Amino acid sequence: MYQAIKRLLFCFPPEVAHNATVKALQLFNKTNVISKFVPEVPSVPCKVMGLEFKNPVGLAAGFDKNGECINGASQLGFGFIELGTVTPLAQSGNPKPRIFRVTKQDSFINRLGFNNLGVANLVKNIKLSTYNGILGINIGKNFKTPAKKAVIDYIYCMEHIYNHADYITINLSSPNTPNLRDLQYGDSLKHLLERLKQQQQQLKTLYNKYVPFAVKIAPDITEENLKQIASVLLDNQIDAVIATNTTIDHSQVQDPKLQAEAGGLSGKLLNSMSTKTIQILATELGNKIPIIGVGGITDAQSAKEKIEAGACLLQLYTGLVYKGAGLIKEVAEAVYAAKNISPQ
Ligand SMILES: Cc1cc2nc3c(=O)[nH]c(=O)nc-3n(C[C@H](O)[C@H](O)[C@H](O)COP(=O)(O)O)c2cc1C
Repeated sequence: MYQAIKRLLFCFPPEVAHNATVKALQLFNKTNVISKFVPEVPSVPCKVMGLEFKNPVGLAAGFDKNGECINGASQLGFGFIELGTVTPLAQSGNPKPRIFRVTKQDSFINRLGFNNLGVANLVKNIKLSTYNGILGINIGKNFKTPAKKAVIDYIYCMEHIYNHADYITINLSSPNTPNLRDLQYGDSLKHLLERLKQQQQQLKTLYNKYVPFAVKIAPDITEENLKQIASVLLDNQIDAVIATNTTIDHSQVQDPKLQAEAGGLSGKLLNSMSTKTIQILATELGNKIPIIGVGGITDAQSAKEKIEAGACLLQLYTGLVYKGAGLIKEVAEAVYAAKNISPQ
């Protein structure tokens, strides 16, 4: 059935199709109808970051930036949902068109630039939602905020969402916000994470609840730099790392016109880069910080490779668009097989 829906959606420009999908899922926020039309995802609860996930497959950030279809999306079978990226103030992002389908290679290029309705709107939508599974909230900085002052934006978002999130993702890896990725390196990373950990402690006292932090990183990082990042994550007792965001390497895109589009590449063409990043991180982190693997999961094999590389949870975005919700079950089963566990 999804192939028919996909044919229809792919008649429209990618962003129009995306917004229509979010609206359609939103329509079902208050009923359980969707879950009757998608395969049931077998559940083997697992504990990561101190949280219990009903299955290991999550919706990646960027799909529901404003928390508009939380319940609808969860009915597709996800074990967790990550909202955002959200910034302190609403912003419109880059000029359109800004999402491109690399259809023949099951990939996308996007340069959305954190278009979102701001953190206050996100909190309002979360309060209206009846979803009771694991909810991650991914935060970033506004376009106009200089990278040097990014910490102010992250703290602002943290303060607003802390009491509504099961985990918070510090997004340092979008390629579409100038200089954001610089925050992944050296003293910038160290100072940012130290300050955010302090804030986490204060908020923990205020709300009497510990909300874990995940840091989301790019796939375009050298092995040497990944080692340095791993060491800073360990020093600051970060709770998880999400690897990876989209890549700026378009060399595998066959169509020259698409190859020249600026933005981050996701989907099948990202898979091996993302898996390699997970592998290096896993070696550096040992079992001390869990890795959430994302990037180019389009089938059981790519999911299995990410688990074998060292990820313990997985997230999907582009694969979901190309393959439909059936992929969630396929990936969950691949994870169970790779971990040698069997669902009840
Ligand atoms: C259209 C689009 C928008 C995205 N927006 C965000 C975002 O706002 N924040 C973020 O951390 N990642 C964002 N991502 C990246 C995804 O969360 C994910 O890390 C990446 O696409 C790789 O996974 P995939 O190959 O399964 O899509 C976006 C991806 C796409 C395709």
